[in-house]
Parts: sequence; C-alpha cells; structure tokens
Amino acid sequence: MAELFDYDAELRRYHRRLLDEMFVSPDDHVLDIGCGAGQTTRAAAGLAVRGSALGVDVSPAMVARARRLSADEGLRNVRFEEADAQVHPFAPAHFTVGISRFGTMFFADPIAAFTHIGRALAPGGRFVQLVWQDSRRQEWATAIHHALVGDDSPVPRATEKPFSLADPATVHGILTTAGFTDIQIIDVREPICLATDPEVAVDTVRVLRMVGDELARLDADGTERALERLREVMAAHSTGDGVWFDSRAWLITAHR
Ligand SMILES: C[S@@+](CC[C@H](N)C(=O)[O-])C[C@H]1O[C@@H](n2cnc3c(N)ncnc32)[C@H](O)[C@@H]1O
Repeated sequence: MAELFDYDAELRRYHRRLLDEMFVSPDDHVLDIGCGAGQTTRAAAGLAVRGSALGVDVSPAMVARARRLSADEGLRNVRFEEADAQVHPFAPAHFTVGISRFGTMFFADPIAAFTHIGRALAPGGRFVQLVWQDSRRQEWATAIHHALVGDDSPVPRATEKPFSLADPATVHGILTTAGFTDIQIIDVREPICLATDPEVAVDTVRVLRMVGDELARLDADGTERALERLREVMAAHSTGDGVWFDSRAWLITAHR
C-alpha cells in the first residue's frame, strides 16, 4: 500500500494554532470533519474530558490510522468513522463544537455540505476550520512554479479543490446560506514542512496536479532541467529539520 501522506508533520505549525482557537471545554462534544489520522480529534478528546470527539474521514486508510493512534494513546472518549461528511447521518444538533484542519475544501456542493454539517451542531455551536488561501499567496506554490517554468513569471491561480475556499467573500456567502452566523475569517501565516529532505520533497510535489500539468508541457530535456531546478529550490529550503516553506491559511470561525 502506498505510504499515507503525513499531514501531522506537514501541518505541525498549524496544529497549535487550531488548538488555541477551538476553545474546547470539558463537557463539549466535538465533530472533526476530514480528520485524517485524527491528531486534531485526539487533541479535542483530550480537552473534552467529560464529553467526546468524533472524527470522520472518507479515507479508510486514514480512519484506520486514526483508530490505531487513538488506541495507542488509550483514549476512551474518541471515535472515528469512515464517512462522507457531506451526507453522513450525524446525530442532529448533537455536537457543541465542529473543527476541521484543512478537511472542508473538497465538497462537491459546499452549501449543501455545510448546511448538512450545521444540522449536526447544537444551536450556538461553534465551527472552527482552517482552509488554504489562494495558491498565489503560498510561498511553496510560487517557488515550485518558478522552478518549473525557469523564470519569475506570475503564478497562475490554482483551481484545485484544496483552494476552493480561498476567497473570503465566497466563504462568507456559503456559510451564511448554510445557516451560520458570527462568521470571522482571520489571516494566518505559518510555515509548512513539505518533507524530511529535498529528494522526498520533489517526489511529494510531483503528484500535485499543478506540477504534473507543468511537466507534461516539457520535452525530456526540459523536464530534467525543471526537476533539477526543483531539487535546488527544495535544497535551499531544507533546514536540517525538513523542507519548509511559508504558507497562508484562513482561520474561519462561525456559529450555528
Ligand atoms: C488535507 S487532509 C487533512 C487531514 C486532517 N484534517 C489533518 O489535518 O491532518 C484532508 C482530509 O479530508 C478528507 N476528506 C475529503 N473530503 C471529505 C469528505 N467529503 N468527508 C470526509 N472527509 C473528507 C480526506 O480524506 C483527507 O484525509
């Protein structure tokens, strides 16, 4: 089986930020959307000592890893379900806090999905999520683009799903239509760790569509030169503790 991407390593600087903003209390019941390997779900469960935390993810492999890590920690108030958050039959008005660390950008119909998730939150419940800002504001995307094309030309706006909530006005509209109030969208900047070393970082980004599309335009020599420039960029951002680039996210809070 292919190695699962290590979001905990990549997003380690965002983890603290989400913890600080989710304000989970001992009696809370927390729903974590697109929980991945469940680091944020386990952290929420650790705070909701008399409550509970449920992490949902569509990926069976991620849910399996989340369950394993949770069992290793001996947590008793946390559960994980392999589920599509857009349609999963959550207990209505059950959860007092919703959280998501980059797990809400993948919905086919965001208004329907957020309306559905909102129904799982109790009246007054809070939803706290991190989503990516526009790709043109991401140092990693800019550096990769310039390495691939070999000049400083403007970076095109990526339209892939991870950037689907990058426009604050659009997000505000989606959440308002989905029944949320008190919507706040805060600019957050933290570095991300792409990989442990430059070679792995090149392999990691080669699977991105923006990289694949750019490489597909080149002949064999051009591809080799582009990959060499990519290796140089990754080496320049390698600190000995991983390959790090700045990134920007929106921290979105909203109430039911
Ligand atoms: C970028 S990863 C983030 C994972 C995790 N929140 C973290 O920070 O480590 C996005 C996750 O969302 C999950 N996901 C995407 N669409 C989903 C959906 N409709 N319902 C539930 N999970 C979903 C993916 O399987 C993936 O694990």
